[in-house]
Amino acid sequence: MMKLKHLATATFCLMVAFGCSSEKRPIYKDASADIEARVNDLVNRMTLEEKILQLNQYVLGVNTVENNFGEMVKDIPVEIGSLIYFNDHAEVRNAMQKKAMEESRLGIPILFGHDVIHGYRTTYPIPLALACSWNPELVRQASEVAAQEAYDCGVNWTFSPMVDVSRDPRWGRVMECFGEDPYTNAVFCKAVVKGYQGDDMSEKNRIAACLKHYVGYGASEAGRDYVPTEISDQTLWDTYLPPFEAGVKAGAATLMSAFHTISGIPASANHYILTEVLKEKWQHDGFVVSDWGAVEQLRYQGMAEDEKEATMLAFNAGIEMDMADRMYQKYLAELLEEGKVDMKLVDESVRRILRVKFRLGLFEHPYVEEKPESEMYLLPKSLEIAEKAAAESMVLLKNENSVLPLENVGTIAVIGPVASDSTQHLGNWGARARAEDVIGIVQGMCEEYAGKSKILTAKGCDFEGNDKSGFAEAVRVAKASDVVVVCLGHKGSWSGENQSRSTIEIPKIQEELLSAVEATGKPVVVLVTTGRPVELPRIEQKADAILQTWHSGVRAGKAIAGLLSGRYNPSGKLAMTFPYSTGQIPVYYNRRHRARTGDQGLYKDITSEPMYPFAYGLSYSTFEYGKLTVSSDKLKEGETIYAEVTVKNTSQRDGLETVHWFVKDPYSHITRPVKELKYFEKKLIKAGENVTFRFEINPLRDLGFVNREGKKYLDKGEYRIMVGDQSVSIYVI
Ligand code: BGC
Repeated sequence: MMKLKHLATATFCLMVAFGCSSEKRPIYKDASADIEARVNDLVNRMTLEEKILQLNQYVLGVNTVENNFGEMVKDIPVEIGSLIYFNDHAEVRNAMQKKAMEESRLGIPILFGHDVIHGYRTTYPIPLALACSWNPELVRQASEVAAQEAYDCGVNWTFSPMVDVSRDPRWGRVMECFGEDPYTNAVFCKAVVKGYQGDDMSEKNRIAACLKHYVGYGASEAGRDYVPTEISDQTLWDTYLPPFEAGVKAGAATLMSAFHTISGIPASANHYILTEVLKEKWQHDGFVVSDWGAVEQLRYQGMAEDEKEATMLAFNAGIEMDMADRMYQKYLAELLEEGKVDMKLVDESVRRILRVKFRLGLFEHPYVEEKPESEMYLLPKSLEIAEKAAAESMVLLKNENSVLPLENVGTIAVIGPVASDSTQHLGNWGARARAEDVIGIVQGMCEEYAGKSKILTAKGCDFEGNDKSGFAEAVRVAKASDVVVVCLGHKGSWSGENQSRSTIEIPKIQEELLSAVEATGKPVVVLVTTGRPVELPRIEQKADAILQTWHSGVRAGKAIAGLLSGRYNPSGKLAMTFPYSTGQIPVYYNRRHRARTGDQGLYKDITSEPMYPFAYGLSYSTFEYGKLTVSSDKLKEGETIYAEVTVKNTSQRDGLETVHWFVKDPYSHITRPVKELKYFEKKLIKAGENVTFRFEINPLRDLGFVNREGKKYLDKGEYRIMVGDQSVSIYVI
């Protein structure tokens, strides 16, 4: 620290000698000046100590995030780059900002970050559920509301979207991403970035996005958290990088490095991904923040001998900001003196952070207006989006004999641990989520069916354990009803970071409750409220209908009741495969071909097919697909053709249908997945009407593939365009 001080004093004296202090209006304070000019001007004025502090992130407020540690930091240096803002009062934040603006030599505003994963106070469905809506515009709107609420509370930067392609539902963090498919993650990534940042981040109510966890965290072995991954360069490029590339192209201001090791090199010390790919190839000019303590953790990962070496490795690899562990603050100056870190890289890193601050307009409006909660949170429009998003995210998995919707029913029983436990709908990673904001299932049903049907309710059992003392009451209630809605699932806290599970079952006690209720002979509708795909075969046998409701936020109960009554027509389709059993994992649609055909290589004890595949989901409407056609069956690179399919709603009910367009390259010099999603579109089809869906095919973008160096190529030959069970061949000539 002594050395750091000497350097700082020396730099300051130099600056005075060059006359900086006598200047009237520094360029960096001139809002009309070009951002690069402002960045350079400011960096040139900074002492080494000031620069290093910009590269650090501390915590403001008491940290209640279970996986992280840390109490309120009282002595925060006013020159700090960023704070994770574990508080929800704009005045606390403004007071800290005032110190930075007025007590620091150069008045550089602090960047306040917070995890806003699926809404701030108006909690939306978890991202995995949102992906099942196949409605990126709706997700953009939800993200825009999240940005407004966060901004009003003093947040400038959120640590989302999380776009880690995930194929193992044992991993707790599958809830945070947009499922198993790279393209789906890419599309929703863009929607979220747009929702947060808009076209101009300096506008009011805009916050900076952070793509995380860069990259491949979802490949965690056996779904365990923080463990190493094995990712070949090919898979890195064709599976894990595409959503990040899409987010970078969409203008995402920042990225977060990941905890895990990628084939021997920790993501947080990985020069290839952090610098060669992100900064050199993709030309990202924002910055990368480490995940919580990820720099220090390089020691536990067996890479760095001590904290100082960890600092050197992370910084030189390309992490500009150090989250929470203060390694950069402790060691960067020493590393500079020892020649292990280059001053040019320090300047470049500071520049990247300042650039984001300038783009956010923080120098011009460092403070937020302190408003009453009623003007910030849970506004009518925000709640409307919450209900719509929940309704469109839920997936109807079974509906035998059209038991749903429940119309003209005398008495409906609502039974099970989720029935009256509205907290669980918030899922994990609720920013300012509050249980009292949630409309749960029983409340939603009572409001929906007021004056139409009688609602009876019983808990039956807890989420887990062996206590069956509530079963008798549940059976009594079921017997007194015409239909039974059984609300099963996982607690919100069973998903999220550090929430791996060895099995994706619903606890046995809940299945037993279902059996007891089913024995009454009443029609049974099962609601499955979870943050991950779960095993449903035993439940399916006992259910006439199943609705996967996910953890769907503050209006979950409204959406559920609306779907059950028919006020909404289900339109969600799965963004992640549901296996029959945990033993089938990993099971995902876009696997590669096996070497043998027929039953060779398949499981001998169960089917190798999943229970509910990717893109599966029912509606109350029935849709008939017309013939899939293409405008030409031959094309060259640079030309465009289109494929079309007309879908008829053959029912009496208006419905939303999503058409998923897949491409298959049957033979390729790099073997490719059996099929790849390339486009999707959701449209309303009125009862009895036809709507045509069209997929514009750009050969390099939609038929091409990427090699292990990240180079896109297009092979000549046959490709198949697939919709539902139809397929048509086209040829690149
Ligand atoms: C998580 C990140 C999160 C960060 C800050 C970490 O433990 O992995 O996703 O953004 O904490 O809360």
